[in-house]
Amino acid sequence: MNSMTDYPVLTIDGPSGSGKGTIAQLMAKELGWHYLDSGAIYRVLAQAAIKHHIEFDDELALAELASELKVVFTIEDDQLIVRLEDEDVSTLIRSEQAGNAASKVAVLPTVRAALLQRQRDFCQSPGLVTDGRDMGTVIFPHAVYKVFLSASAEERAQRRYKQLKEKGIESNLSDLIIEISERDVRDSQRTAAPLRPADDALLLDSTTMGIDAVFERVRAHCSDEL
Ligand code: C5P
Repeated sequence: MNSMTDYPVLTIDGPSGSGKGTIAQLMAKELGWHYLDSGAIYRVLAQAAIKHHIEFDDELALAELASELKVVFTIEDDQLIVRLEDEDVSTLIRSEQAGNAASKVAVLPTVRAALLQRQRDFCQSPGLVTDGRDMGTVIFPHAVYKVFLSASAEERAQRRYKQLKEKGIESNLSDLIIEISERDVRDSQRTAAPLRPADDALLLDSTTMGIDAVFERVRAHCSDEL
C-alpha cells in the first residue's frame, strides 16, 4: 500500500511563528486525522546531535543519526509529547535556540533524505494534517489540500514575545525579530527543500488575522475541495 496517495493529506507550510502549528492541530481535531509536526523532528535531531556530541557540519554522522533517531510522538491530554530515547524533550525542543539549531541541521540534503520516509509513514487512515516548510512541495506533493501561511517578521516576533511572557520567560523583542529573520533567510535560501509555497497552495497572510479567522478560512478551503 502506498501511504503517500491512499489517504488524504492537508499540508500547512510557512515560516516560524506564522501560526501553522496551532492551525494544523485545530484542523487535525476538526477532521479527526493524524497530526505530524515535522519541525519537531528537526528539533529533536538537533537535540540528539548535541547529546551525542556530533557537530552540526558533520553531515555524514548527522544523516546516520537521523536514520536511527529514536523519537516517539504521543498526544497526552491534548498536548503533543515528544520523547527522544525515552526522555521527554517536549519543553526542551521549543526554545528559540532549539529552533535555530534545528534550522542548521535542516539545511543538509542527506539529513533531509534520511528523514523523508519517516515523515511519509505518518500518513495513515483516515488522513493526515502536517505542518512544516516542505510538506506541500517535497514530502506530500500530492496532498489534496495545501496551505501556505505567512505573517510579517515583526508580527511573528510579537506573537512569540507574548507566548514567552505568558510562560514567565523574559525576552527582547528586537532580538526575537533578528532571530526570526535569520531563520527565515536560512530556511528560504537553502538549496535542499527551501521554504516556499507549493504552486497549488492557498496563500494566507495572517499578519492582521486572528487565529479563529485563519481557522475558518482553512476549514472553508478544505470543504471547497471535497
Ligand atoms: O516549524 P519549526 O519552527 O518547529 O521548525 C524548526 C526548524 O526545522 C525550521 O526553522 C526549519 O529549518 C526546519 N524544518 C524544515 N522542514 C520542515 C520543518 C522544519 O526544514 N518540514
